[in-house]
Amino acid sequence: METDIFYNQKDVAEAYLRFRPKYSEEVAKVVLEYLRNQQDNPDATKKFDFMVDVGCGSGQATDLLSAHFNKIVGVDICEEQIRLATEQNTHQHITYLVGKAEELNVAEQSVDLITCGSSIHWSDLPKFFDEVKRVLKPSGCFTEFGYWFSEVHPVGDKNDDLIKVTNDLLAKLIYLGPNHDAEREKQVRGSVYGDHFYQSIPFTKTKHKSLILTKIWSIDQLRGFFRSSAKYHELLKRKKSIREWFADVLLDNQDDYNLLEALIKKVERIWDLKPEHETKLQVKFEVNIFLFTKKGT
Ligand SMILES: C[S@@+](CC[C@H](N)C(=O)[O-])C[C@H]1O[C@@H](n2cnc3c(N)ncnc32)[C@H](O)[C@@H]1O
Repeated sequence: METDIFYNQKDVAEAYLRFRPKYSEEVAKVVLEYLRNQQDNPDATKKFDFMVDVGCGSGQATDLLSAHFNKIVGVDICEEQIRLATEQNTHQHITYLVGKAEELNVAEQSVDLITCGSSIHWSDLPKFFDEVKRVLKPSGCFTEFGYWFSEVHPVGDKNDDLIKVTNDLLAKLIYLGPNHDAEREKQVRGSVYGDHFYQSIPFTKTKHKSLILTKIWSIDQLRGFFRSSAKYHELLKRKKSIREWFADVLLDNQDDYNLLEALIKKVERIWDLKPEHETKLQVKFEVNIFLFTKKGT
C-alpha cells in the first residue's frame, strides 16, 4: 500500500520496534475482563474467536491477548511496520496485514474485539467507526489505549520538582511545541483526545481505566523513543521557530543544532547526570484505556 506516512520510513519503523514500550499484562487483564463481561463469558478457559488490532505498528499490542483468541489479525497502513511485525511474530494464529483502518478486509459481524494501541488518532474517525460497527459481532467490543510519560527520574533519585521539570520538557518537545495551548496540553496528558471525544464515540457502555506502566531505560532508550515519534519529527520541520520555543534548551551560538541532543543534555543537567556513568532511568507511563461495546447501539 502506497503511503508517505512517517511510520513507513525504514529507520523510523526500526526505532519504533526497538524503543517503544509494549503494553503490560495489566492492560490485557482490564480489556479481557471487560470483554468477558460484555459477552457473558466468565469462563476464563474459553477462548474468543477473533481479534483485530488496528494500526498495529510492529505488534506492540497485537499479542497482548494471544492466549485468549483463536485468531488475531494485526492491520497497519505501513508496509515497513507489517514487515517488522511479521519478522517478530512467534504465533501461528496471529497474521499481520497491510491495510487501512477505514477499510478493514474482514467479514461482517465476525470480530469479538478490536484494539487500537496509540493509533486511533491516525484514522478518519467516522469511516473507521462505521467499519468497527460493520465487523464487530453484536456483542463485540472495541478498545482504545495510549500512554504518556507520568514520571521520569534516575533510578533511586526521586525528586518531585525535578520530575515535573522533566515532564514539562518532554511534553513541550513532543506535543506542545510553539502554540502552547492549555486545552491541548490537558488532552495530551490525559489521552489522545479529551473526554468529549470519547463521549462522542458511537458505542455504548464506555469505561475508562488508568494504569501505570513502568520501564527501566538507559538515556539512549529515551533518545530512541523521540526518534520514533511523529510529533517530534513534525516539530523539527518548523526549524525557524524551534530556536524561539526551545531557547531554554538550546545552547547559544549553535547554528547547526540538534534538538534531540540538546534535550538529552538538558535532562542530564536537570538531574546532574554524568554521561559516562550510564545512568538508568525509571520511566513511568500513564496508560489510559477506553472500552466500548457494540451492544445496544
Ligand atoms: C503510534 S503507532 C501505534 C503502533 C502500536 N499499535 C502501538 O501501540 O505502539 C500508529 C500506527 O498507526 C498506523 N496507521 C496510521 N494511519 C493508519 C490507517 N489509516 N489505517 C491503519 N493504520 C494506520 C501507523 O502506520 C502506525 O504504525
